[in-house]
Parts: sequence; structure tokens; C-alpha cells
Amino acid sequence: MMEKTLVIFKPSAMERGFVGQILARFQQKGLIIAGIKMMQLDENILREHYSHLTGKSFFPLLLKSMMASPVIVMCLKGVDAINVVRLMTGATNGREALPGTIRGDFSSSNQENIIHASSSPEDAEAEIKRFFRAEEIFDWTPASIGFVYSPLEMQ
Ligand code: CDP
Ligand code: MG
Repeated sequence: MMEKTLVIFKPSAMERGFVGQILARFQQKGLIIAGIKMMQLDENILREHYSHLTGKSFFPLLLKSMMASPVIVMCLKGVDAINVVRLMTGATNGREALPGTIRGDFSSSNQENIIHASSSPEDAEAEIKRFFRAEEIFDWTPASIGFVYSPLEMQ
């Protein structure tokens, strides 16, 4: 199914200059940029975004880490995009993430792990709404889409 998912280029990607290399991976996979912008996250949006972690001992450090620089938020579109992007992202801990994944190739930390990616259809929907206004999401399709997927896959 054609899906949209949310990716955040975390301060670890911004500070270390990996935005281009990571975006290139998503584009070479065939994912479509449906929305992209730079923003400074604040405590309010992070408490919402990471509500499942507010009770954890590392939460204050996570807040600090996510606010350490502006981030780039991106909405990517593609067939099964939520799962595809999670697979490309790899395990949370960069030391355990497989080589070939973004976290496996660019990080060595459980916290400074380069990108966020939505982990379920419900999360993706809520997260895209959290970070983008409706008019910031573009429902365009590149002319080359027929060379990325078969017509059956796009139904
Ligand atoms: O990002 P992911 O969905 O893989 O993992 P999560 O369990 O939803 O945790 C969200 C983020 O919290 C991680 O990506 C890490 O940046 C951070 N975290 C951390 O700093 N220390 C941990 N022990 C676990 C997560
Ligand atoms: Mg998560």
C-alpha cells in the first residue's frame, strides 16, 4: 500500500553533516519526498513525540540531544514506506544496528542515532500531523514512478 512516513534528521545527523548522504539513500530506494522542512524542536513537541519515554531516566538527556540543533523533518512516500524506512533505519542502538542500515553505518550510540522514523501506521499518521501543516505535504508523483513499482504494487 502507498504510505507516508515521518523521518527526522536528528541533531546528530545535522551536526555531523550526514543529511545529504542519508537523503540520497532514501531517494535511491525510490522513496518520494512529500514534505521537507527545517525546524527547531522544543520541549512541548518532544514530550508529545516521545510520550512513551517521558518516564525513562534518559528522557532529560534525550530532550537535550533533540534540541541541540535545528532538525530536518521529512515526510516520505512509497509502497510500504513505514516498514521500508524502519528497515533502512536499523535498530535503535547504533552499536547493534546492522551494517548497511543508516544507524548501523552512521552511528555508535543508543541516543545519538542519526534519524527518527515512524514505527507504525498509527504513529506515522500522528507524527506527520505533529510536524507538518496539511498544505506542507505535497501529493505529487514523479513521472518515473512506473520504473520504481509495478502497477499492481501501487494499487
Ligand atoms: O527511535 P526508535 O523508535 O528506534 O526507539 P525508541 O525506543 O522509540 O526511542 C526513541 C529514541 O530515544 C531513540 O531513537 C534514542 O534516540 C532515544 N533512546 C535513548 O536515548 N536511550 C535509550 N536507552 C533508548 C532510546
Ligand atoms: Mg520509536
